[in-house]
Amino acid sequence: MVEPSVEFHGVSLRYRILAEQGITSFKEWAIRWLTRRMHYQELVALSEVSFTVDAGHAVGIIGHNGAGKSTLLRVAAGILRPTRGTAIVRGRQAPVIELGLGFEAELSGRENIFFNGALLGRSQAEMEARLDEIVEFADLGEFIDQPIRTYSTGMVARLAFAVAVTVDAQILLLDEVLAVGDASFRIKCQERLQAFRDAGITILLVSHDLDGVVQMCDEVLWLDRGAVRAYGPAAEVVASYRASVAEGPAVGGAIEAAAPPG
Ligand SMILES: Nc1ncnc2c1ncn2[C@@H]1O[C@H](COP(=O)(O)OP(=O)(O)OP(=O)(O)O)[C@@H](O)[C@H]1O
Ligand SMILES: [Mg+2]
Repeated sequence: MVEPSVEFHGVSLRYRILAEQGITSFKEWAIRWLTRRMHYQELVALSEVSFTVDAGHAVGIIGHNGAGKSTLLRVAAGILRPTRGTAIVRGRQAPVIELGLGFEAELSGRENIFFNGALLGRSQAEMEARLDEIVEFADLGEFIDQPIRTYSTGMVARLAFAVAVTVDAQILLLDEVLAVGDASFRIKCQERLQAFRDAGITILLVSHDLDGVVQMCDEVLWLDRGAVRAYGPAAEVVASYRASVAEGPAVGGAIEAAAPPG
């Protein structure tokens, strides 16, 4: 029996945010910090999230702004450690989580391919072997040799996506990457994702494009204020999400007073 690619068991994640107001100087901040008179609040971004993803499945993650979708992907990528619970991800990952993360503004697109590859734990030789394919997929023309600080948002996304789908990975983690690409790039991305599904690669895809999610995903996880509201067949979950959106908006996680540190 093949083990699931992703397992979340009761994963909670709290961001700590400073509740202080009216601190005007570093000295005052330092004194308060040293005397432990700093007040924090905690923002519950994920609350007891449990789900498993079978190898080769594509799972869409949906929910309102601030529901915890990006946080969930950061936990899956190992960027954030859960406050409670465990998150297990099996296989080589290719994350495209935050735009520009893993890229260096002053380096050219071409140089960044190697830089990004190294961060993903890929060897120079592997990246060299894939270079042409990545450059072709990103299709940035002469910009490939310009520093990426000169790129538009969509151009950075093209490069990031091109690297992620070309390196050898068993799990793709994608946060809203398709949203900033133009129509022709989107079609190319969708074709590539379909090929990945056929090849048995696991995909976690955060998106607000509900039609795209139904088209591309087997299951959908609906997050609502950090908690799993529904997890099941894509079309069903998207339909109940749509019905609930019609009832009214909701934004963000729940802010609570934190226990004093120490
Ligand atoms: N670094 C951070 N520090 C403190 N709070 C944060 C941080 N990042 C996110 N949050 C909070 O955590 C909650 C979940 O944020 P997250 O970015 O995971 O939402 P999201 O579902 O990806 O939203 P969106 O659809 O807008 O991208 C939000 O309430 C947000 O304000
Ligand atoms: Mg997000």
